[in-house]
Amino acid sequence: MALREILVVPNPVLKQVSAPVEAVDDELRALMDDMLETMYAAPGIGLAAVQVGVPKRVIVMDLAREGEAPAPRYYVNPEIVSASEETAPYEEGCLSVPEIFEEVERPARVRLRYLNYQGEQVEEDAEGLFAVCVQHEMDHLQGVLFIDHLSRLKREQAVKKVKKQAKAA
Ligand code: NI
Repeated sequence: MALREILVVPNPVLKQVSAPVEAVDDELRALMDDMLETMYAAPGIGLAAVQVGVPKRVIVMDLAREGEAPAPRYYVNPEIVSASEETAPYEEGCLSVPEIFEEVERPARVRLRYLNYQGEQVEEDAEGLFAVCVQHEMDHLQGVLFIDHLSRLKREQAVKKVKKQAKAA
């Protein structure tokens, strides 16, 4: 396993639409292992492949709380089968938009279909933080960042702030 570099805004790669994965093979599993290690090191709770410069439809997540055993989750070619009409707000952040946290409103519950680490098709219901995180990560696969859900002014302020941080680092 190896740590990968996490791209930050305004890197144009983050705006790319990711391509479907053709096969869940050892090469893809190696990518998912690297992504998980990179996410844990950041630290973060979710990461899309495009954030490490690989525009494939792959997500890793771990929603275990502090003190709980690690619970890695892998989503290949995820799709939302259905979403609730009810929405819920959540203050989101993103490893590609460091130090910025803003409230985003999304469907409160979604039903997912995806391939897991073994390449098996799974359907699963998500709510709460799980629903928030998986929808945020799936946005990345479409080249959409959580700041794209904000007003133009707030989005531009966020990007400016990240650029300033990068310069200061
Ligand atoms: Ni993100």
